[in-house]
Amino acid sequence: MITGKGITKTFKQRGNVLGGREVHALRGVDFSIAKGGAASFIGESGCGKTTLGRIIAGLESYDGGEVSIDGTPLSPLKPKQRQPHFRKIQMIHQDPYSALNPTRTIHQTLYAPLALRAGQTGRSKAWIEERAAEVLSLVGLDPGTVLARYPHQLSGGMRQRVVIARALTVDPEMLVADEAVSMIDVSLRLGILALLKDLREQLGVSVLFITHDVATARYIGDDGELYVIYRGQVVERGPVDTIIADPVHPYTQSLLSAIPVLHGLEQPGEQPVVPVESLNGAQSEEGCLFAGRCPFRTDRCESELPLLGVTNGFPQEHACFYPERRSVIARPMSEV
Ligand SMILES: Nc1ncnc2c1ncn2[C@@H]1O[C@H](COP(=O)(O)OP(=O)(O)O)[C@@H](O)[C@H]1O
Ligand SMILES: [Mg+2]
Repeated sequence: MITGKGITKTFKQRGNVLGGREVHALRGVDFSIAKGGAASFIGESGCGKTTLGRIIAGLESYDGGEVSIDGTPLSPLKPKQRQPHFRKIQMIHQDPYSALNPTRTIHQTLYAPLALRAGQTGRSKAWIEERAAEVLSLVGLDPGTVLARYPHQLSGGMRQRVVIARALTVDPEMLVADEAVSMIDVSLRLGILALLKDLREQLGVSVLFITHDVATARYIGDDGELYVIYRGQVVERGPVDTIIADPVHPYTQSLLSAIPVLHGLEQPGEQPVVPVESLNGAQSEEGCLFAGRCPFRTDRCESELPLLGVTNGFPQEHACFYPERRSVIARPMSEV
């Protein structure tokens, strides 16, 4: 189980002579992902998803709050003491082209991490070969065909499967898939998503999907938890089905609607889709972070920050003073 409490992260971006700009990438985020569980972070580009994923994978530091793995808080530990915790968490990036060394065959790619493990555990060379074939089979590739090939001889989908196979060589407890299908041919995406789902069921590995795309987020499985992130704050959180069916935060509603940035769009016989103002709208640091784009804002929203919590009898957590079920038109699954 990995948990985070009040995680904050501010980047100082290099600016001009007048000084840099501070970017509040994360503003007090809580999360909890159980062993074997699934979660999905969704939100538009720049909202802090990758930063949070990298913190969870031990690749990025945080300024405030605390991350704990199986109950052990990590910030008091020295980097060396943290390593064994983070080794169990493997990140899969969006670009399988750059993730693989083009001069190495798939056999060489898998051999290196397996040889390291074999050395540590006193296993034989035969075990390495066996395990290399095994991890390829687990990701749906035929070892006989793939092992001798170089990355450029494989399709993007096959390459991403190899990246996942390489992650499996360390027997991870968690896979963090950061936009893992966004650069894959549309026709191959569902296969990769189904694979991650299968690995979770077969191996009990937890899966964290990071995506800007609702259809992908939805694919984590019925028992998965959805975190909707806006400008570094989780604005809605709960079971994926509940939130997709009945989102109560206007931002989630805009993400789920078919055409998110049109004003006052109405369909015959339907209530209006939540009309959301464009991204270029005010990005105030005061009050609700979404207020500048929200069609339902009041004076209160412009001065007070709503915190994530459960109110008004809704099952999910939300960070809105005026949560309400509003009709949205979800994107069809075929857009994955
Ligand atoms: N290493 C960095 N240095 C400076 N700013 C960063 C760095 N990494 C991310 N940011 C900024 O933090 C914010 C969140 O980025 P990121 O986590 O990559 O968002 P997402 O993955 O949701 O697109 C963005 O404004 C981004 O520009
Ligand atoms: Mg990102």
